[in-house]
Amino acid sequence: MTPASYSDRHIGPDSKETAEMLGSVGYPTLAALIDAAVPEDIRTTTLTLGPALTEEEALRKLRSYAKQNVVLQSFYGQGYFDTITPPVIRRNVVEDPGWYTAYTPYQPEISQGRLEALLNFQTMVQELTGLPIANASLLDEATAVAEAVGLMARTNKKGNRVILDRRLHPQVVAVTAERARTLGLEVEIADVSSGVVGESLIGVVLAYPGTEGDIVDIRGAIEDIHSRGGLAAIATDLLALQLLESPGTLGADIAVGSSQRFGVPLFFGGPHAAFMAVTDKLKRQLAGRIVGVSKDAEGRPAYRLALQTREQHIRRERATSNICTAQALLAVCAAMYAIWHGPAGLRAIAERVHQYASDFAQAVGDKVVHENFFDTVTVECDAPAIVAAATEAGYLVRSLGDSKVSVSFGEGATREDVEKLAQLFGATATESEARPLPLPRTTETLTHPIFSSVHSETQMLRYLRELKDKDLALDRTMIPLGSCTMKLNPTTGMEPITWPEFANVHPYAPDSQTAGWRALLNEMEEWLAEITGYAKVSVQPNAGSQGELAGLLAIRRYHQANGEHQRDIIVIPQSAHGTNAASATLAKLRVVVVATAPDGSIDLGDLDAKLEKHAENIAGIMITYPSTHGVFEDTVREVCQKVHAVGGQVYIDGANLNALTGIARPGEFGGDVSHLNLHKTFSIPHGGGGPGVGPVAVAEHLVPFLPTDANAVDFTKETPINIGVPTSGARYGSAGVVPIAWAYIAMMGTEGLERASATAVLNANYLARELSDSFPVLYTGKNDLVGHECIFDLRGLEHDTGVSATDVAKRLVDYGFHAPTLSFPVAGTLMVEPTESEDKAELDRFIAAMRSIRAEIEEIAQGSITFEESVLHHAPFTAESVSDDEWGYAFSRRQAAYPVTSLRQGVKYFPPVRRIDEAFGDRHFACSCPPPEAFNIED
Ligand SMILES: Cc1ncc(COP(=O)(O)O)c(C=O)c1O
Repeated sequence: MTPASYSDRHIGPDSKETAEMLGSVGYPTLAALIDAAVPEDIRTTTLTLGPALTEEEALRKLRSYAKQNVVLQSFYGQGYFDTITPPVIRRNVVEDPGWYTAYTPYQPEISQGRLEALLNFQTMVQELTGLPIANASLLDEATAVAEAVGLMARTNKKGNRVILDRRLHPQVVAVTAERARTLGLEVEIADVSSGVVGESLIGVVLAYPGTEGDIVDIRGAIEDIHSRGGLAAIATDLLALQLLESPGTLGADIAVGSSQRFGVPLFFGGPHAAFMAVTDKLKRQLAGRIVGVSKDAEGRPAYRLALQTREQHIRRERATSNICTAQALLAVCAAMYAIWHGPAGLRAIAERVHQYASDFAQAVGDKVVHENFFDTVTVECDAPAIVAAATEAGYLVRSLGDSKVSVSFGEGATREDVEKLAQLFGATATESEARPLPLPRTTETLTHPIFSSVHSETQMLRYLRELKDKDLALDRTMIPLGSCTMKLNPTTGMEPITWPEFANVHPYAPDSQTAGWRALLNEMEEWLAEITGYAKVSVQPNAGSQGELAGLLAIRRYHQANGEHQRDIIVIPQSAHGTNAASATLAKLRVVVVATAPDGSIDLGDLDAKLEKHAENIAGIMITYPSTHGVFEDTVREVCQKVHAVGGQVYIDGANLNALTGIARPGEFGGDVSHLNLHKTFSIPHGGGGPGVGPVAVAEHLVPFLPTDANAVDFTKETPINIGVPTSGARYGSAGVVPIAWAYIAMMGTEGLERASATAVLNANYLARELSDSFPVLYTGKNDLVGHECIFDLRGLEHDTGVSATDVAKRLVDYGFHAPTLSFPVAGTLMVEPTESEDKAELDRFIAAMRSIRAEIEEIAQGSITFEESVLHHAPFTAESVSDDEWGYAFSRRQAAYPVTSLRQGVKYFPPVRRIDEAFGDRHFACSCPPPEAFNIED
């Protein structure tokens, strides 16, 4: 006997179970099933990724990559700082599957733990920035500032001009300027410290502190901006705000930045949680998710996502942003870091950092360029010589041209470092007075009791455990969310991400120090090109939404470079994911919707009509394959040909690549560009709402338009039309989590990847077949088969009994399941994607739960009970509710809590709250932690 291969560990069903399920679906082998399900004309030949590595071999190879990186102590700054991840957070959040395998908290009853953690993040950002409304994270600082400019443009329709402070980090200006120009805004990059001139201003982004570390009094500038009708956004640093006056107190409308230095490693650029906070007036324009407080059916405070009508999944092309996956896990880390250290501890860290910077500046003397600084000291010097000497001494510092170097002190800096760094400049450091700050903080920080509630490690452990236990993540149950591919995240892939040789590398370290990182990332890009059939891939986009934007910009710029500026219409099917339309808007493309035929495929007649009507203006089409209806449409080649025939480009959303890997390649069957979601198909965990990696893959003719390095562009001018633009502040985006996807591909190999896709299709068809008598399957493709997911239609049952898809989703919680995707892409339905990682027993458990729920619905249909009295209407049930002395329901406690006997055998999950009143929360909007009294059970 040989030990099991990794693919046998990853793929749930063994050969016996596979055979049984194939029997139920009616095919002798997986190959026969795939032949029957997937159109012949898109099938591909075998991939050439080669044989799989064992887990040990994969780790050995990852170690050899890690060793090729040279890790210097980072004093580089520029938005990424040396920080210390408290081990209690590293082990019990970053490395804990209870946290990292959770999904975005769309189902709030089973997400109270991570919603609370994200609310802590928002409360922290609100308190530190002095602004009342914060979101639950954005992707990185550069894109967050771009979002701030988007917000200003939407709010302030009178003008067209935006000014970016010259003192912002260069990568921030590069990303923001190009995004703003794409939207048709006039961008000026100027020194705004002494005021703002000119008319038709929509707003200004000010740096506080600046990229060279300098702090200027921005109050005059803010007044100027307001007097000219503009909005003032401040790009800031949360650690500096321990000591500096809050942007809100200074009059800012928006504050943005990165929370990376709150305990999140450098990760060679990401993932890190960016933040945005705004005034109350701007709350409906805020980008990204916001956690809010509402109440459950028993009137208790309960958390859920708030003001969702701003977001892409509802508002589509009129959304405030295209953000879907953000950086939830990293936001949780940052919030826990603040709780761990508390206000006094954080202030002490900030004071130490400032003290060391002051001592260093004092030693270096009159060569210091800026009088006022927090942690970053810029020095006039022979930069190449100093950088070389620093490298020799083990330090990474930043050169600003040939005659200036900046040194940024982070949490890990020691007095010895101060002394050694001073010596590089021929100076001797001694303890001195801390440099007075120009705008010292007058307002208190982190006053909410949560930030003073944890003193010991025991308390922290228990708090993290308590929150985690409130939630359902993949480590407890399958998460059958259609379109989300919640598959196993390999532990072997998770291990290396916190190795210091990967985690502690600054994104702007010179290439000579990052050979290992770049080899791994380049290999990953090559593998993805092979899998998708495209010429080249960039892993820079840090979520699917960003990959979409990068891909659409590639299409737009390609047409413009060919002189076809009029091509600005993108055709999108009715059923498309909301990010598609929202990304199109950001790429300044107009959306034309193509209808769905009765069988769920693209209506070819309508497509022809739209292509004919807009032929001259067609930039392209954006389709998802297999479609968001869960089927392999056999007209996909024809659709691509039709669009190409009118001169358009084909964007194939690769979010559903889990049905295609090793089976068909979008770059071969008609796509010009795709994005992939490594946090779906390639096993990066979803983190409760991010991180993600959304690589963009393009055909040969679009290669010049791939994302460029934000630090290598001349942002003072519009980027030439024949090249791409940066989509993230770091060259490789969220590089830090790519080793997970690398390990997955390496350990699956060609055979494993093909078998995974085929098993994903088998599992979905098995569920569809077994449940179709209970709930009709909305769409099927060739041979009555679905792809890797299927849609159960509850509209008929709702009409007859009043039981909605939402009721079924909530009732599934009582059976210990995370609900499937609710009402996407069709209202009133549930979309189920089991993935290949679920074994037959888990699928059967789900089938049993769904059949049992169907029987509960039948009782209503038969008139045995009314809908209002039914268990479905009142689900889910907390442990407390079913053990209450009073029980006024028409069904038994046992039916409520233990509707199937199998629940009595394992550890039963009880949600911590009853059904949440979502609308109440928006009517009484609150998005910071409620005070402890709000939870007082005696009220
Ligand atoms: C079909 C489809 N496209 C795009 C996206 C956006 O990806 P992300 O959430 O990484 O931004 C999703 C995410 O759920 C999706 O399902």
